[in-house]
Amino acid sequence: MECRATRFKSASQARQRSTVPPDLPASHRDLECVMLQLVRRPRRVRSNGALRQMVRENTLETRQLIYPMFVSEKVDRAEAISSMPGVYQYSVNELVESAKQAFDLGIPAILLFGIPRLKDELATQAFDSNGIVQTAVRQLKKSLPDLLVITDVCLCEYTSHGHCGIVDKRRGGFEVLNDRSVEVLVQTAVSQAEAGADVVAPSDMMDGRVGAIRSGLDQAGFIDLPIMSYAAKFSSAFYGPFREAAESAPQFGDRQSYQMDPANANEALREVALDVDEGADLIIVKPGLPYLDILWRVKERFGLPTAVYNISGEYAMLKAAAANGWIEEKRAVLELMTGFRRAGADMVITYWAKDLASWLK
Ligand code: PBG
Ligand code: ZN
Repeated sequence: MECRATRFKSASQARQRSTVPPDLPASHRDLECVMLQLVRRPRRVRSNGALRQMVRENTLETRQLIYPMFVSEKVDRAEAISSMPGVYQYSVNELVESAKQAFDLGIPAILLFGIPRLKDELATQAFDSNGIVQTAVRQLKKSLPDLLVITDVCLCEYTSHGHCGIVDKRRGGFEVLNDRSVEVLVQTAVSQAEAGADVVAPSDMMDGRVGAIRSGLDQAGFIDLPIMSYAAKFSSAFYGPFREAAESAPQFGDRQSYQMDPANANEALREVALDVDEGADLIIVKPGLPYLDILWRVKERFGLPTAVYNISGEYAMLKAAAANGWIEEKRAVLELMTGFRRAGADMVITYWAKDLASWLK
């Protein structure tokens, strides 16, 4: 049917002046005749697949992925993490095998966490030259020299109490001692460097540890070894599944005296500024999903290579929804990753790294 009143400035004008014959059903009337005079029609560039691809602003590439992995001194056969389907604690041999798969898929880097057989108050296994991480790093670098091995520098997997530093229990409660912890963290970072780590990543949130690790590494001759600092790390409920994987849940108290309050953004920027001053080469924002604003501000303000850690709880909740058929995993993960890139992430640390690498092929 032909429309006589074709040009209107707005939909409401079209409705007022509609000349559609009254025999059309009311619901069709306006629709048949509206032709807005719009100069801007954003849909024009969405109308065609090739064009949509050309105007896409952000992309995710396999070269931007970092794969977190767990190596345990206590397992011979891969041990599944129940809350993180697809994630395992590996023996050293299996770790190398799985890391090779990642490398063959084009993933450039892994982030390594170790679970020692023995834990003690002073985290002595963290800096033992024959500790689990040191042993694993030597094996990895021997078999896969071109895979970047980033080692987590923290004490929570190595202390009997599960805190990220040395604890003083004398005062009725307990205190995580800052400067004493930093000494042990420096020893740990240097021992990992000696084993062949390419990058060290302190995740403890003690004050001054980046500067101390920098001078410790320099004194040991590792002047070119970069520090990837968990500069803005929040005290998050979303770390739960990781603590199962790393066997690092605190046995008493919580981590609120060293990790940041989720409510604070200015404090996060101050934390990052300190780490930058102390010599951090790369910055991590963690967690990811609930902290995209922090990620954006950190990238905008400091302009350093910035990674986001898409943490265990973020992984677990989406995996659970997907397992129930409530969400389409691949599309949801790709959207999540694109969101991280859009918010300023140069790199994404994610348990989905292998899946992503094959999806992106
Ligand atoms: C602590 C550490 C945490 C994670 C990695 N190292 C958090 C914590 O236990 O407080 C979390 C990573 C994840 O949830 O995937 N050094
Ligand atoms: Zn820790």
